[in-house]
Amino acid sequence: MAEKKANLGDLNILLGVSGGIAAYKAVDLASKLTAVGALVDTVMTENACRLVGPKSFEAVTNSAVFTSLWSTSEEYKISHIALVDWADIVVVAPATANIIGKIANGICDDLLSTTLCACWQKPILLAPAMNDNMWDNPAVRRNVKALKDMGFRLVGPEKGRLASGTEGIGRMSEPQDILEAVGKIAFAVRHPVKEINRKKK
Ligand SMILES: Cc1cc2nc3c(=O)[nH]c(=O)nc-3n(C[C@H](O)[C@H](O)[C@H](O)COP(=O)(O)O)c2cc1C
Repeated sequence: MAEKKANLGDLNILLGVSGGIAAYKAVDLASKLTAVGALVDTVMTENACRLVGPKSFEAVTNSAVFTSLWSTSEEYKISHIALVDWADIVVVAPATANIIGKIANGICDDLLSTTLCACWQKPILLAPAMNDNMWDNPAVRRNVKALKDMGFRLVGPEKGRLASGTEGIGRMSEPQDILEAVGKIAFAVRHPVKEINRKKK
């Protein structure tokens, strides 16, 4: 079946990938975002790199993958601040309980968390993915609420089969659903709502 295509032509998407088992699905998401015209740079946590290789993202996006605050000489021009300036939309998929906790509490101890701390005023979409017990944990609930209050958008998680083999809430949304959520944000970025109550001069 033909996929419904979002038009992300020429939008710069910063894709953050943290260390959840759904990281392999983020490669498909990166591919889909690129296929609809977005320019995708990827930032991976060290734990994400244990689950899926940075080369996969590089291959499907034909673009840079960043994995460390302490970049190599070739990457020296691209600081986390430059990445923030570059991004029109930021997507974190999968978003682990850990990265959700870090960004809700302003913790910056690696490239992804530091970048997210610096870009909180950009449109940010999180696709949480974790075990249902983790999702139900009061500390996680508190962090999710704090992020929603700050204006972060969430897609998922969904109910279904979890990596542990049990059924519950915590599955990352499918890449196609995340793509559609990004498409809605892209529309809002391109068509900002005019201030209704703007004072007349
Ligand atoms: C195989 C494996 C799968 C994991 N899957 C998840 C997951 O889906 N969600 C989650 O929150 N943590 C998951 N974890 C635990 C995280 O990797 C761990 O909390 C880590 O500190 C996250 O680091 P990061 O957020 O910096 O990537 C998993 C760990 C392993 C070993």
